[in-house]
Amino acid sequence: KAGWKGLIEEYKHYLPVTESTPIITLREGNTPLIPVSSISKMIGRNVKVYVKYDGLNPTGSFKDRGMTMAISKAKEAGAQAVICASTGNTSAAAAAYATRAGMKAFVIIPDGYVALGKLAQALIYGAEVLAIDGNFDDALTIVREMAESYPVTLVNSVNPYRLEGQKTAAFEVVDTLGYAPDWLAIPVGNAGNITAYWMGFCQYHSENKCDILPKMMGFQAAGSAPFVEGHQVLKPETIATAIRIGNPANWEKALSVREASQGQFNAVTDEEILEAYRILGREEGVFCEPASAASVAGVLKLKEQIPDNGTVVCVLTGNGLKDPDSAMKLSESGIRGGIKADLNEVARIMGFIS
Ligand code: F0G
Repeated sequence: KAGWKGLIEEYKHYLPVTESTPIITLREGNTPLIPVSSISKMIGRNVKVYVKYDGLNPTGSFKDRGMTMAISKAKEAGAQAVICASTGNTSAAAAAYATRAGMKAFVIIPDGYVALGKLAQALIYGAEVLAIDGNFDDALTIVREMAESYPVTLVNSVNPYRLEGQKTAAFEVVDTLGYAPDWLAIPVGNAGNITAYWMGFCQYHSENKCDILPKMMGFQAAGSAPFVEGHQVLKPETIATAIRIGNPANWEKALSVREASQGQFNAVTDEEILEAYRILGREEGVFCEPASAASVAGVLKLKEQIPDNGTVVCVLTGNGLKDPDSAMKLSESGIRGGIKADLNEVARIMGFIS
């Protein structure tokens, strides 16, 4: 969209901001909705599949949508420091927006389970990063208590302004398609984003901007799928470290979204996630991080349930560049090394001459 000034400016009539709210923005939002024909073909029956590539936000994930709101409101309230627990993306976004607002960012991460790119971001944006000997759920417990006892604002998705900002992704989907999809498929960790999308669709629906509401289809990694199992998971495990969460912060909200939208929570295995991740890269030229591919993996798994001629939007929450290790591990044998710097040698190996 021409002249895009960030999502608060674009959607301010739908957001809790006033003339006196300082808008802290990196011009986030306005991310592409990309048709993925290879996935559509795998499903057949004239089903149209799109990916909402939110990895193209300024810090490479959908968290920027929530953070522009959360940090702007924190700034308005006079906060000088923010804190979050994170599997990586929240910390990168919090660090970037806090820096822009002239605030300090403290982030607590599970030691050894945050992808390299996300760590690099938090450090470059100048956050104070503490790696704890525990998982995300432990980190969230600590930061919630920190925010109650000390002058720091919590910017995890229990902060209501986060969800307000993130709901704009649903607005963009409807603005781009001209209608709401039959299914909205989305990876689920704390269930903030699925809640936010639903808020956005409902708000647009009540303003007659779309006729139908989508079924909200949430996908979790099989080793950390509390919503599928119906209870907290004490030791969540998955290669999709972004959603390695056993005790989701937005439990009640997620259950009401499932009910109100007649949606579902389902689990996808790490193998299914990596297969979708590979297909997106190889067939579509779209590089997302493993957790994001859970949405596409889920749609492929449940493809029989999609209505004929239906439209499905899969949310790709984070950029593939966040997690170079996962990509390299999958492609270990892909680079041919030790080749002489010689034209004929190269042409021979490529099969153009013998
Ligand atoms: N996808 C990615 C890439 C994420 O980073 C996250 C959450 C999710 C999906 C799940 O979103 O929690 O709203 O259901 N990442 C958080 C973080 C936990 O710390 O970056 P959710």
